[in-house]
Amino acid sequence: MHFATILLLCTGAVFFARGDPVSEGDGIHPRSPRVKRAPGDTERDCTATPPYIPPTAKDTTALLASLRQAMQTSGYFAGSIQAYIIPAGDAHLSEYISTRDKRREFISGFTGSAGTAVVTNDASGGKAALWTDSRYFLQGEQELDCNWILMKQAEEDVPTIEEWLVSELNPGGRVGVDPQLVSISTWKQYDDALQADGISLVGSSGGNLIDDIWTDRPPPSTAPLITLGLNYTGKSWEDKLTDIRGKMTETEADALVLTKLDEVAWLVNLRGSDVPFNPVFFAYAIVTADTAKLYLDMSKVTDDVRSHLQLGCTTGASCVQVAAYDTLLTAVEALAADSNIRKIWISSASTTYAVFSKSKQILDASPVMKMKSKKNPVEQQGLKNAHVRDAVAKCEYLMWLEEAVPGGSVTEISGADYLEQLRSRQRDYMGLSFPAISASGPNGAVVHYRPTEETNRAVNTEDVYLIDSGGQYRDGTTDVTRTLHFGQPTDYQRECYTLVLMGAINEFLQVFKQGTFGIRLDQAARAPLFSRGLEYGHGTGHGLGSFLNVHEDPYFGRSSGVPVGETGTFITIEPGYYEDGQFGIRLETLAMVREADTKYNFGGRTYLTFEPITLVPFSEKMIKFDMLNMDQLTWLNDYHKKVRETIGPELQRQGKNDVYDWLMKNTQPFETSRITSSGAKAVSYVFIIAFAVVCSIFST
Ligand SMILES: *[C@@H]1O[C@H](CO)[C@@H](O)[C@H](O)[C@H]1NC(C)=O
Repeated sequence: MHFATILLLCTGAVFFARGDPVSEGDGIHPRSPRVKRAPGDTERDCTATPPYIPPTAKDTTALLASLRQAMQTSGYFAGSIQAYIIPAGDAHLSEYISTRDKRREFISGFTGSAGTAVVTNDASGGKAALWTDSRYFLQGEQELDCNWILMKQAEEDVPTIEEWLVSELNPGGRVGVDPQLVSISTWKQYDDALQADGISLVGSSGGNLIDDIWTDRPPPSTAPLITLGLNYTGKSWEDKLTDIRGKMTETEADALVLTKLDEVAWLVNLRGSDVPFNPVFFAYAIVTADTAKLYLDMSKVTDDVRSHLQLGCTTGASCVQVAAYDTLLTAVEALAADSNIRKIWISSASTTYAVFSKSKQILDASPVMKMKSKKNPVEQQGLKNAHVRDAVAKCEYLMWLEEAVPGGSVTEISGADYLEQLRSRQRDYMGLSFPAISASGPNGAVVHYRPTEETNRAVNTEDVYLIDSGGQYRDGTTDVTRTLHFGQPTDYQRECYTLVLMGAINEFLQVFKQGTFGIRLDQAARAPLFSRGLEYGHGTGHGLGSFLNVHEDPYFGRSSGVPVGETGTFITIEPGYYEDGQFGIRLETLAMVREADTKYNFGGRTYLTFEPITLVPFSEKMIKFDMLNMDQLTWLNDYHKKVRETIGPELQRQGKNDVYDWLMKNTQPFETSRITSSGAKAVSYVFIIAFAVVCSIFST
């Protein structure tokens, strides 16, 4: 899954600029008028008379009329607005959002995860447009009715939102948006561009226009919170508060406002289920030197939570108070007005414009982002344990596939469902950590693929099969990808698989300095593919939470202020290769950063390396051994030895003797004689990379 995020957050711009293979594969030419519809055609045709609207599209005519009416009469903007922007996100800029927050989906019918809608009033042309990226062009044509213009982001002649607004509105025009749903940077981007043309961006105050017309909007979640004891978190919320206050003193910040749901959940050692896949709950937190306040729906606070937080106190460094969720903005405003509060710490990258506009202050990334990326020993052990149980389910699945696929009864969806079932039988399972990417043949090349009834393919003996999935367990979050073939892979597919595997191994073989940022470690995983003129258009991996979000800092693809080079950091290593229309290969293995055992110790420094945490075998059938060098083969054999020795006993403990036999068979050491010429390859990628890393260290 990773992809969705990594791609968007880290390498999105570059990736799309180079041409997203997904869109080319779709082969959509929506602008060419089609006279006659082929039976079963799923896309809209607005040039036909009458227009062809597929049954998958939502009729938005009445809704748009209500929205335009509301734009005319609303008191939220101190005057009328000519256009209204409807972003896709929630007030915490979350990756996964609750149904209640799917406002853009409600108004347009478009269900893709990325996309922004803009509606103009009748006097300004009465248009509605939706911007999305190439992943979702086909989906847009299927789900939008003809009231909507589909703006294919980054395509030639397609304006940006700001450019379009400037062309549609007259100078003096006003564009409304809910400031609780846009980041500081997005607001600035719109505002700068519009202002330059005499148009103003106006934030609503008092409500949201979509909420007003959404009569059957789902009610807020009241799912009770769960508490996590010290045996899961390794650190009490009291100690976490002390650490945070230490950072605040260093930064001379008198108040810290936390707006990310996983940061709040981490701080107070609570979890919830308000959004899918991420075990978080709607809340904010404000910490000062002597107060800590949570803003949340009190109905979620059970007796258990009450005693966990020792609610009822009024003062003291270890006193947490609770207040209503929707009083946060007022509280931030009060802080800004308080003469004792000189500096308010809000995170620039993850805060909405609404919070910023009340505090008028901004500082760097929140301290929690960095703290929670470095797992303490209890969290490390929990993540390891969760990965052992997860590997049991995954190995069970792989063994089952080998038997079931030739029978012809497995599809992408039924396979993913079965894997979910297997996981759910493991102890402390709490749900999926993201929707599984179960992809056969060409679907594997669609990097953000998620099977639907329409795209569901058989998992067969002809095609490559990619399975990327993960679970939430009370002691850890998992995310693993393996790629397989149940018949005879082509020589080319094996070559590509081996290059991807070599990239993953190279990443694991690196030794680096404390404090190293991911971007410096990214190239090692790409080098084998590069050497044959191949590459992948996404980041090499992402951090992952301790029974929290499946995507968090740090990332290999960008420097966010959180280094990879810290012991106890968990990060996925997931190189891949995608052949448009043919197959996709990705090998994703979670790693933990630990001290390296080096011969020397220059400068008395700590040198670090990656330890594999995901323990699921690679596919022997897919490996061209003559491409590996001795270091890589040794790593592979050591890895499989660790898989046998760690997962084997757990399989026996669970009485899964058939899976145990399968595992023993699939983790046999490979003979070193299988690699043809180790001497000539002595100057391997690893050496080159080690050299490059050393050079870059000395050049800084
Ligand atoms: C942690 O402690 C709780 C409460 O005593 C217990 O129910 C749970 O099984 C423990 N979990 C682990 C992983 O030790």
